[in-house]
Amino acid sequence: MELSEQTCLVTGASRGIGRGIATELGRSGATVVVNYRTSEGDAYDVVDTIEDVGGSAIAVQADVSDPNHVEGMRDRVHDAVGSVDVLVNNAGITLDTTFREMTWDEWETVLAVNLGGAFNCTKIFYDDISRANEGRLINISSVIGKQGHYGQANYAAAKSGLFGLTRSLALELARTGTTANCVAPGYTRTEMVESIPEDIQDSLREEIPLGRFAQVREIAGIVAFLSSDVSSYITGEVIDVNGAIDL
Ligand SMILES: NC(=O)c1ccc[n+]([C@@H]2O[C@H](COP(=O)([O-])OP(=O)(O)OC[C@H]3O[C@@H](n4cnc5c(N)ncnc54)[C@H](OP(=O)(O)O)[C@@H]3O)[C@@H](O)[C@H]2O)c1
Repeated sequence: MELSEQTCLVTGASRGIGRGIATELGRSGATVVVNYRTSEGDAYDVVDTIEDVGGSAIAVQADVSDPNHVEGMRDRVHDAVGSVDVLVNNAGITLDTTFREMTWDEWETVLAVNLGGAFNCTKIFYDDISRANEGRLINISSVIGKQGHYGQANYAAAKSGLFGLTRSLALELARTGTTANCVAPGYTRTEMVESIPEDIQDSLREEIPLGRFAQVREIAGIVAFLSSDVSSYITGEVIDVNGAIDL
């Protein structure tokens, strides 16, 4: 993919899928903003990796669930690299427990990061992406948003909410030429999945027709495609990358 004209902001890019997306966009020539919340050292490693492959990147701390943080991030991004063309709302967390045991705080925190974070970043970078030449909004949802999952009512509700948010924004952004799409990964090898007990990982793997978890690069490549000009007629879609677990 050729992205040398694009400035891309990836939220939650210090680790896991976000790290892979940021690195892939940088490798494709984009100027990349690597957002992180707490993992500062990891975020600067991502910047170094992008610079090592000839790209350009900056790291910016912000908790996406806090609109004041996101406004501060926008100001720092504008000062450092100018307006954002591609916004990838990737930051996400899980706080798994059965619905019966779930506290109000566990519900609100997961909604605030996974869905509220996408709202905050899209709201605050809306003018950037809608004024860009073929801007892009890409929300990282999950197969759990389609299927639901035992012990993940908060996470499933947030990830499902991203589908409606994305489709509505696809309609509102269409006249500007900016597209809005979701990527819905299945289980992907990151700390989020590696924190699941081994025996449960084994039983999850057995449910996947392809017989394995996704690699981060298999998600990152789809985001690079959606960021590029060859995807300019795809909008309002959910792209499943899940090894056929939902069939
Ligand atoms: N792994 C999977 O199997 C899988 C499957 C489907 C969908 N997803 C989705 O893919 C995305 C990435 O998941 P992952 O597995 O890569 O997770 P991960 O390895 O746990 O990494 C999460 C990233 O999000 C950042 N983050 C968390 N809360 C944040 C906040 N409030 N503000 C800013 N950044 C925040 C973290 O930054 P710090 O470390 O700096 O706090 C970290 O960079 C999530 O939206 C997740 O729901 C993952």
